[in-house]
Amino acid sequence: MVSPLILVNLKTYQEGIGSSAHRIAAAAEAVGRESGVTIGIAPSFTEIHPVSHHYGIPVYAQHIDGITPGAHTGYILPEAVKLAGAHGTLINHSERRLTLADIDAAVQSARRLRLESVVCTNNVATSAAAAALNPVYVAVEPPELIGSGVSVSKADPQIIEGTVNAVLDVNPDVKVLTGAGIQSGECVRIAVDLGTHGVLLASSVVKAENPEAVLRDLVSLL
Ligand code: G3P
Repeated sequence: MVSPLILVNLKTYQEGIGSSAHRIAAAAEAVGRESGVTIGIAPSFTEIHPVSHHYGIPVYAQHIDGITPGAHTGYILPEAVKLAGAHGTLINHSERRLTLADIDAAVQSARRLRLESVVCTNNVATSAAAAALNPVYVAVEPPELIGSGVSVSKADPQIIEGTVNAVLDVNPDVKVLTGAGIQSGECVRIAVDLGTHGVLLASSVVKAENPEAVLRDLVSLL
């Protein structure tokens, strides 16, 4: 069976840039190796190149724009993200929402470049819509629980179950992640038992005094 994915989004937290990003990447590499679980990180764009070249972990961009090379000042070119060493990319994160057309263009760019696409959604209906665009993953995160310290696995298992079923109906090739408030091995276990292929999380790892210890706990029941 394929390993679940634990994807740690460093967002723009102070604790997720520069040497702190390297510390989290090193922890992800160490815990990934000892557990056999795939642990990826989504750092700031400026950290994609160094992190993907120094550590044996999958690195994800936090966003791409569905554009092609040319005159697009200030946009994130998928080709540049790929060349920097990214394995995949988040698309439509709750803190970086896009139009449906933009999501479609970004997913298509990712597919063309063999970047693993993770389309974030906020409920069951948007998860079904995202699955129709044929990304690799749909990651459902109830916005009100993001950064709250309250786990989606415990507070809203219905959204996980509903998303797994809706995505399966629309496009059984698409895998499901869930996130918001994920903080322990128990949260991850519940999410996987409900049919997901892993979790997307941020604050519990990025803001931890000891990110490695938190990661070890996150994979402990898999
Ligand atoms: O991208 C993951 C994120 O939105 C969830 O954040 O801090 O609730 O784990 P957090």
